[in-house]
Parts: sequence; structure tokens; C-alpha cells
Amino acid sequence: MIKRPTEQAQSWISAALSEGDCAIDATVGNGHDTLFLARCVGDRGRVIGFDVQQVAIDAAQKLLLENQIDAGIVDFHCCSHGVLANHVKTPVAAVMFNLGYLPGADHSLITTKDETLVALQAAAQLLQPGGLITVVCYPGHPGGDEEMSGVIAWATALDGNWQVVKYEKIGTLKKAPVLLAIEKKGSQL
Ligand SMILES: C[S@@+](CC[C@H](N)C(=O)[O-])C[C@H]1O[C@@H](n2cnc3c(N)ncnc32)[C@H](O)[C@@H]1O
Repeated sequence: MIKRPTEQAQSWISAALSEGDCAIDATVGNGHDTLFLARCVGDRGRVIGFDVQQVAIDAAQKLLLENQIDAGIVDFHCCSHGVLANHVKTPVAAVMFNLGYLPGADHSLITTKDETLVALQAAAQLLQPGGLITVVCYPGHPGGDEEMSGVIAWATALDGNWQVVKYEKIGTLKKAPVLLAIEKKGSQL
């Protein structure tokens, strides 16, 4: 009944998206969120994906193909989400961040606080009213705690046009992932 942060992120994002919308996957990884976003926006929509590793983008493209998703819906950029603003110029309805490292790959290739905060700022500028940003943070790996603290501080400082929710399991021995949902107030366009 209680969802994992990654599942809860998808649940909230699905409520923010309609067919034909544009959405960003800021950390493509193995493509599970990219596939989810592509299904939400449908054939008339658009998804823009970022990852620093070509191996991640290759895995995501394979997953889309296996699931009969039209490749034309998704634009992949093999670069940091820190330069997101250079590649996306139109408003978006949702942005997903799933921080940390690519499962099964080099664990030293992780998202970093500085790049993540630049990307979040760009995402916030691009988000249309009624839109949603989700961020799954992993405080358990080196640098993850600091990155999460930076993300929470950034979200806490947003003005009254925003609403932020923190979702986390309590009472765990290991540091559990934390989901932030960041909504830009106002009705959808
Ligand atoms: C936890 S995985 C993402 C999982 C993915 N959302 C999925 O559904 O399969 C995190 C990804 O972030 C990527 N990454 C690390 N630094 C990045 C950056 N600066 N910009 C974009 N992606 C980055 C890693 O290469 C890794 O693939």
C-alpha cells in the first residue's frame, strides 16, 4: 500500500501530466522514468532526457523499443542536466530527478549537489503553472547526504508560488531515500 519513493514520484507525476504535454527526465538511467513519461504524454507529447553516460541512454532507448514507444517522442541528450537550459526552451509540465548512480554501473559516476541545483533552478524556470518536479534523493552514498541537504534547502527557500512535500520512510536503520515533490501553483495551461 505504501509506495517506494520512485513509485510515489510516478504516481504524483501522472496526476500532473496530460497527453500532448512536454516532460523532462533529468536523470535517464536505465530509462524506467523515461518510459513512464513517454506513456503519460503519448504520441502527441514530448520527453527530453538527460544523462552523462551513453550506456544509460542506450539502455533507455532499448527499453523504449521493447515497449513499442515511438522513438520520435523522446529526445536524448548525453550531457549533464546542468546544461538543461541550453536544450529546452519551451514550458514543461513535469520534471523528474532520480539522483545518485546508475544501478549496476560505476558507482563513482553520481549526480552532484552543484549540478543538481543548477538543473533544478532551470527546471523551475521552465515549469508551467500547475506543473510538478519530483526529486528522489539518496543520502546513503558518499556525497548523497550533502546533495540531499542542498536540494531540501533550495526547495525550502522557494517563494509562495510553490508548494513542497517531503516523503520519507521513518524508523529505518539504513538511510532511506527521500522524495521531494515541488509543485508550481496555478492551473494547468
Ligand atoms: C538513479 S539513476 C536514474 C534512474 C532512472 N531514473 C531510471 O528510471 O532508470 C541516476 C542517473 O543519473 C545519471 N547522472 C549522473 N550525473 C548526472 C548529471 N550531471 N546529469 C544527468 N544525469 C546524471 C547517472 O549516469 C545515472 O544514470
